[in-house]
Amino acid sequence: MKTDYWNAFYSGNFTLDIPSQFCAMFCQEAEKGASVIEFGCGNGRDSRVMASHGFRVLGVDAAQSAIDYCSHRAGDAIGKSLNYLRGDVSELDLAPLREFSSGGKFYIYSRFFQHSISEEEQEAMLDGMDALRQNLAAAYFEFRNADDENTKKVFGEHYRRYQTPEYFRHAIERRGFKVAYEVSGKGYAKYFEEDPSVTRVIAVLS
Ligand SMILES: C[S@@+](CC[C@H](N)C(=O)[O-])C[C@H]1O[C@@H](n2cnc3c(N)ncnc32)[C@H](O)[C@@H]1O
Repeated sequence: MKTDYWNAFYSGNFTLDIPSQFCAMFCQEAEKGASVIEFGCGNGRDSRVMASHGFRVLGVDAAQSAIDYCSHRAGDAIGKSLNYLRGDVSELDLAPLREFSSGGKFYIYSRFFQHSISEEEQEAMLDGMDALRQNLAAAYFEFRNADDENTKKVFGEHYRRYQTPEYFRHAIERRGFKVAYEVSGKGYAKYFEEDPSVTRVIAVLS
């Protein structure tokens, strides 16, 4: 993980407080009151909105500055609907995640995270998801796909790894999950003048 890079990025210069289009889809579809573990929560723009719609959220991110920012803004909602944990997916401590997800149905939510991590980190994350499968209702993913490699970016310096939907599908199927929904293309994640090519996947236990 590019720790220094992301720590600097979230040290005050990224304060966008508008949720992603993917978050709107998730909040509309997922069962209200359920728990959500969000990997790569960044500045909390999506986790805060989920909490405001009745979800209990645990945001996980490796950047300490992002977690500090989220925790500070969560104020007295911390421990009730909003929880944050510093954690790198390549060395996940599953105990707090198990505890958080043990109370009933829960979701995994990962937005613009798969392309931000290496293949090895993705493997470790999906192993973690596999280990947490007991109460898992569904896992929601949105990531830049292989068709996005040459498009112009607002943040051109971010580390990005591009994968095809097929590649990702195989990675989850190898662990006994199946794709319940999948769509790819532009128009799903517009960001100012950028219109990335993304893939959305909802994975469930097969
Ligand atoms: C592109 S940002 C996405 C943030 C947020 N989900 C959003 O959509 O705005 C990627 C996030 O992944 C985090 N990250 C990168 N590598 C990580 C790793 N190995 N473990 C945990 N978090 C990581 C970064 O700190 C950053 O917050």
